[in-house]
Amino acid sequence: MARCLYFLDHKPHPTGPHKRLATGSPTTMCGIIAYVGRDEAAPILLKGLQRLEYRGYDSAGMAVQNGTRLEIRRVCGRIDALNERILKFPISGTSGIAHTRWATHGKPSVSNAHPHVDTAGELAVVHNGIIENADLLREQLRRRGHTIRSETDSEVLAHLIAEQKTKEPRLQFAVSRALRLVEGTFGIAVISAGEPDKIVCARRGSPLMIGLGKDATYAASDASAIIQHTRRVVYLEDGEMAVFDASGCVIMRIDLMSKVDMRIEEIDWDVQEAERGGYAHFMLKEIYQQPESIASTLRGRLVGGEDPVRLGGFHDIAESLRSARRVIFTACGTSWHAGQIGAYMLEELARIPTSVEYASEWRYRDPVLEPDTIVIGISQSGETADTLAAIDLAKRRGCPTFGIINTVGSSIARLTDAGIYLHAGPEIGVASTKSFTSQVVALTLFALCMGRHRGLAPERVKQYTDALTALPGQVQEILDRADEIRALAARLLEHDNFLYLGRGYSFPVALEGALKLKEISYVHAEGFSAAEMKHGPIALIDENMPVVVVAPRDASYPKVLSNMQEVKARGGRLITISSEPNGLSELSDELFTVPHTLDALLPVLTSVPLQLLAYHIGVMRGCDVDKPRNLAKSVTVE
Ligand code: F6R
Repeated sequence: MARCLYFLDHKPHPTGPHKRLATGSPTTMCGIIAYVGRDEAAPILLKGLQRLEYRGYDSAGMAVQNGTRLEIRRVCGRIDALNERILKFPISGTSGIAHTRWATHGKPSVSNAHPHVDTAGELAVVHNGIIENADLLREQLRRRGHTIRSETDSEVLAHLIAEQKTKEPRLQFAVSRALRLVEGTFGIAVISAGEPDKIVCARRGSPLMIGLGKDATYAASDASAIIQHTRRVVYLEDGEMAVFDASGCVIMRIDLMSKVDMRIEEIDWDVQEAERGGYAHFMLKEIYQQPESIASTLRGRLVGGEDPVRLGGFHDIAESLRSARRVIFTACGTSWHAGQIGAYMLEELARIPTSVEYASEWRYRDPVLEPDTIVIGISQSGETADTLAAIDLAKRRGCPTFGIINTVGSSIARLTDAGIYLHAGPEIGVASTKSFTSQVVALTLFALCMGRHRGLAPERVKQYTDALTALPGQVQEILDRADEIRALAARLLEHDNFLYLGRGYSFPVALEGALKLKEISYVHAEGFSAAEMKHGPIALIDENMPVVVVAPRDASYPKVLSNMQEVKARGGRLITISSEPNGLSELSDELFTVPHTLDALLPVLTSVPLQLLAYHIGVMRGCDVDKPRNLAKSVTVE
């Protein structure tokens, strides 16, 4: 059991309009598959879960209808363990639902694994999404005599539907009535012991599709789970419900229970394409997921009022945070770049001395550490050996430790005293993309919380919360113009060396842009502070050296402009990323503009075109962008 206070205060879920998987599936961590047909359900469900494994998960389970009984098997751990459990305690039946869970709301455990059942064990539900009013509903259900067995928000659905079923025996009507009581998002599949061989699914904000087979019907959150059985699918739209048996399916509106025309589509991707949601690579999919992953990092954490940022257990360690006199971020690679941005923000907003350390250097340096220094590890995987060792060192020296982590239950999450989960969803491409932008967003939330504790004016916080709220839409605006970056990549293909420059908040972005390019395309790229140019790197500049300058209109802008002129005067080729459309086109050889936001948040926007640039150059050079040579996703060795 994780003994640390982590901010599992919400469960992420996709937002925004439903998208066909061909143009990008929303961010979901958990996976759903359901089956009703003539064959044994368990092997089909297991196979489907295996197809969903690539998304990452920490527990799995299934419910199968056996006559008028439901058989449930759940495990904490791998699908192989679920398979072993089923071999040991076989289950038989021709319909069932199954789920892989990536813990976000309650620790990874058997009792938190799906399916969840009602008090009598007669109804089972698997759920992706978040029930925002779960706390209230859980309390009301307890008072009405229901036995709640998990820490999840999802379980309330089973009890609510069971309760409605006493008034409206047909499952689809009970589901419809229950869902009207629920705030939040869901993709669900439900089975009931009393109605054999019928499955009800419903969707609001969490993707779900129905697969139409021969004498069999499927449902899945992801095409890869069912593609081996059928390519004829119906994508549920928000607010729709599907009721199906082996012979077919009816689609209805959840609220009105009125029938909706079936929109049958043919999927023409192979299994691997399906896992990538129709994108050519996981990296591209993850770049495109950023409007949702950023929204997910923010979800439930912007609450309005005088203290508009809520970070769950923050208050439990508020005393250490309040009395802290120094903050040290420690991390590696991309996470270290995010830490740089976080340090600038903490000093600006919370007025606390902050430094950023490469975990690999710091851990061997015998650093000076006082008990009033907070040491914060930043890590996507939560498993990076150096970051883990650095946190361990800080703990041994008596410092409070904190984690900003994507992977729930990971080693660093367990070692730190408290922390924030990114909720960005599993990142499969080796190069970090959506984790970086979510790290910057999480660090902003942290800096605002610290700032409020240390006298930051509410009006200032409000500016930030407004700007944070606008970020997902602004990232989408950039993604909508991705073709411009692709064309730019083609124009830059001949070059083997790049410089990346930035100042202030854009300096870490320049470092990150250069890191992305070198790791993905094996092109040599270096990032520098634009101000450091004249201390050496300027000697490299001639007409063969493309210089990517991150120059949004922020406090450093006038200074960066003069650095750009220095480059131009030496014949360098200037590729400018800016939020300022005016005045830069004459100076720049290439200009890409991003929307405007607060200085501290500009890195979220300016990093996106740089991710796309690295991606397209990598692809055009024939590199394996998802698995660049010599690199591993988690660096668990020194
Ligand atoms: C670069 C990249 C790496 C990681 C670094 C730390 O794209 O992914 O530089 O950022 O290995 O990994 P985490 O964040 O898992 O600790």
